[in-house]
Amino acid sequence: MNNSLKPRFGVLISGNGSNLQAILDACAAGTLDAEVAVVISNKLEAYGLERARKSGVRAAGLSPAHYEDAAAFDRAVLGELLRHKVDWVVMAGYMRLLGSHVLDAFPQRVLNLHPALLPAFPGAHAIEEAFSAGVKETGVTVHIANEEFDQGPIIAQEAVPVLPDDSLESLEERIHAVEHRLYPEVLRWIAAGRVRVHDRKVVVDGH
Ligand code: GRF
Repeated sequence: MNNSLKPRFGVLISGNGSNLQAILDACAAGTLDAEVAVVISNKLEAYGLERARKSGVRAAGLSPAHYEDAAAFDRAVLGELLRHKVDWVVMAGYMRLLGSHVLDAFPQRVLNLHPALLPAFPGAHAIEEAFSAGVKETGVTVHIANEEFDQGPIIAQEAVPVLPDDSLESLEERIHAVEHRLYPEVLRWIAAGRVRVHDRKVVVDGH
């Protein structure tokens, strides 16, 4: 932990960054007592980098193509996180498996957001797959990341009903709205030191 009371988040993105924006807005509004210390994208063209810069947050675009292998890329990501004295790594639409270098450096301190009720519909196309499967309910999961994709201990989940007249787009919209509320909420619990992990079970004090 850094010496100031506010935890420092390193946010990893790959694209639009609407969840990053929700986190930046919550910090700016003072409803989330934390600081986004750095935003890192594995896609140089990610709009989220622009969002970070507009908020005065350091934005680093790192392309895996510029590194000799995945391990070298992950070491570069870790270097950025350490340079900015990050306490927690917050994946927000980071569409790449995070390497062991980062996971080992931040044990139980890497968070991920997933647009389905895990363990249902893991992977990169969760909303489409849930919609095509005809489920009546899907949702949003925030979990601790481990070395297996979308499988770490679950911190919070919120269900989103699939309505009879939903299109994929309308369902996506409602899921994103829940994400934008739930992720900052979980980060508030983290900032308040209320989240404890016991193997696969996560306890949120006072919840
Ligand atoms: C979100 O739906 C997140 O759950 C998924 O990717 C999307 C990212 O959206 N992993 P954004 O970049 O935050 O707008």
